[in-house]
Amino acid sequence: MKIIIDRYDGTQHYKQAYVVDKKDIEGKTLLSLLLFIKQNLDATLNFTASCRSAICGACGVRVNGHSVLACDEKMEELLATYDNPEVITVSPLANFRVISDLVVDWEPSIENLRKIRPTFIPKDEFSAEKGCKQTQAEYDKIQKQWDCILCGCCASECSKLTADSSDYMEPFVFTHAHRATFDSRGKDPMLHAKAAVLGGLWNCVHCQECADRCPKGISAADDIAALRVFTQKQGINTGEGPDHANAFLTDLVEGSGRLNEILLALRSEGAMAVSKTDIALKLMGAGKMNPLHIFGEEDIEGHKELVEMIKAARAAADKE
Ligand code: FES
Repeated sequence: MKIIIDRYDGTQHYKQAYVVDKKDIEGKTLLSLLLFIKQNLDATLNFTASCRSAICGACGVRVNGHSVLACDEKMEELLATYDNPEVITVSPLANFRVISDLVVDWEPSIENLRKIRPTFIPKDEFSAEKGCKQTQAEYDKIQKQWDCILCGCCASECSKLTADSSDYMEPFVFTHAHRATFDSRGKDPMLHAKAAVLGGLWNCVHCQECADRCPKGISAADDIAALRVFTQKQGINTGEGPDHANAFLTDLVEGSGRLNEILLALRSEGAMAVSKTDIALKLMGAGKMNPLHIFGEEDIEGHKELVEMIKAARAAADKE
C-alpha cells in the first residue's frame, strides 16, 4: 500500500509517497508505521510523539483530512474505514503553522492557554493544613475537561479557525477555561471566564467538528456553551454575541417560533445590520427571507407548549 505524506522542508511543501508491504502494517499503529518509515525508508521524515499511550497528546496528525492521535489508531482498523485502503494521505494538523513535515508550532496556542490562566488558584479559606477538598459531585463537573491532553485535534478541525483565527482561540483553550472556571476550589472563576470572552467565546460557529474529532470524547463546543451561560449570568451579557443569542431565544424561539433573519439581524446588530443589506437581498432572492414577516407571522401549532417547556427548563436551571 501507499502512504502519501505531506512534507515541508522549511522552504517548500510537497508530497512524498512511501510504499509498504501489507505485512509491514500488520499489528501496527499509525505511529508505529511512521516510525517504521523513518527507520527503514527515510530517516529525514519528521514527526512528534512521546508516550505512545494516547496520554501525552504529541502525535496528532491528519489522515485523509481528519485529525487523529497516531499512537491510538490501529492501521488495520483505520484502513477498514476507507473506500480505498490502498492509499492514505498523512498530513500535519491544520490551523497550526507547520515547522517541518508533520511537526507544527504550538507556541501561539500555549500563549493562548496562558491567557486563560489555567493554573489552579485556591480560595483564601483553603490552607496547607486544612487541605483543598472537593466533593465527588463538584469534581464530576470538571472531570471530563481534565481528560484533555492538548493534542490539537479539535483545533485542527475547527471551522472558525480555518475561516479566521484572528479573533478566536483554539477550542481546547475554552475547555481548559471551563475546567478552571467551574473548579469549586478556585478563587476567582471570572479570572478564567473573562479571558475566554476576550478570546472569542462568542465567535464559535457551532460546527461541532471539535466534539466529533476529539480522541477523548470531550466537547469543546459544550464547554463554550456552558461558559457563555455562566458569563451572561455574571453580567457579561452585552455585545453582538450575547445580543444574538438573546434575540434568537426571546424574539424568535419564544416569539414567533420562526427564523426571521431580518428581525434577528436588527436585534443582534442594531443599525450595523444595514451594512448587510446585500446578504439580505440575496436571502430574499433565494426565498429564504420574506420582508413582510418582520410585521408578524401566523401561529405555529404546538408553539405555545414549546414556550411553556422553555419557561419550565429555565426555572429548573435557575434553581440549580
Ligand atoms: S505519543 Fe503520546 S498521545 Fe500519542
